[in-house]
Amino acid sequence: MYRDTPVATPAGQTPVQPVIQLVGDTIDTPMPPTPRTQASAVGYEDDNQDVDVGPGDEVIVPSLSFVATANAVRYVGATPVFADVDSRSYNLDPAALERLFSDHTRAVIPVHQLGCAADLDPILALAAQRGVAVVEDAACALGTTYHQALVGTRATISCFSFHPRKIITTGEGGMLTTDDGDLASRLRVLRSQGMSVPADVRHQAGRVVFEEYRELGYNYRLTDIQAAIGLEQMKRLPELLSRRRELARRYDELLHPLASVTPPVDPEPGSHAYQSYMVLLDEDLDREAVMQRMLELGVSTRRSVQAIHLEPLYLDEDRAPLPVTEQIFARGLMLPLYPQMVHEDQDRVVEALADATT
Ligand SMILES: Cc1ncc(COP(=O)(O)O)c(C=O)c1O
Repeated sequence: MYRDTPVATPAGQTPVQPVIQLVGDTIDTPMPPTPRTQASAVGYEDDNQDVDVGPGDEVIVPSLSFVATANAVRYVGATPVFADVDSRSYNLDPAALERLFSDHTRAVIPVHQLGCAADLDPILALAAQRGVAVVEDAACALGTTYHQALVGTRATISCFSFHPRKIITTGEGGMLTTDDGDLASRLRVLRSQGMSVPADVRHQAGRVVFEEYRELGYNYRLTDIQAAIGLEQMKRLPELLSRRRELARRYDELLHPLASVTPPVDPEPGSHAYQSYMVLLDEDLDREAVMQRMLELGVSTRRSVQAIHLEPLYLDEDRAPLPVTEQIFARGLMLPLYPQMVHEDQDRVVEALADATT
């Protein structure tokens, strides 16, 4: 099965060990039968895939996400239409999605929030009925599965982040996957300033080849140094995921006695990579006071994922009510979780949370 590197080819290796295959092999998950290659972001044209998004178009996104999810829509002049989320998974609610389709809808972006698998089956079915593309925001979900298959293998395009707070990191940068070869080719061209023949292909051609620039492209390349770091990190993916999951299970147990704290779910038929572990505090608790008290006890926490529609940049956007999103945004609290965390640290976090919430 052919797999491409998401980024650049580290010097001296041709071709580099394909990263997606490495993910599939390493965590022993069935891969789909079609080859998948790498791609870029929202907002490109492709005759076969109908993922040409631009001014006048609408893209449905959950509001409960990092602002980057909606920004991707704005970059191409389209309008993000905010959908509410499920109260347990914090992910796009298919029922809310269904109500928001219009004649202008061109794509849907489900987010696997914090590494928790979104319920893709109904989302993909609704999008297919209406002939719109699905672009998965899997920024936090490297290694997350849905029906035992890795996320990033079902949508038109899936986007992963290698930012330092993600499951693996290359400092900055990311990876995109698609099983559409034409789309992948076009995105490779766009990645490198619209260069029609990539430099490595020209250099290895054995004859003189000149490239052309037929359309406006970008520099979206990861450096070779970052690619080399990413490949090494990828080898540790099983260990990193299993450590995160073990710590999450332990949090679930330790938090059980705390009546005013609801732990996150690990929803069937998906799994959770626990890029972050976010609990919900009871409505009558003052979250800021809880965070402040925990800080005084030496434990740093973070508030919930954003409700993008409440950010100043997006306040003017017309939208349906988003009650679940606003509840989660108000009550969500992220506890420290990282692979190097030891049980004693985790105990201290839970003690501080118990102190701050009782
Ligand atoms: C859900 C989500 N989408 C997109 C992004 C953006 O990823 P990057 O910073 O690699 O562009 C993030 C990063 O935090 C994220 O959490």
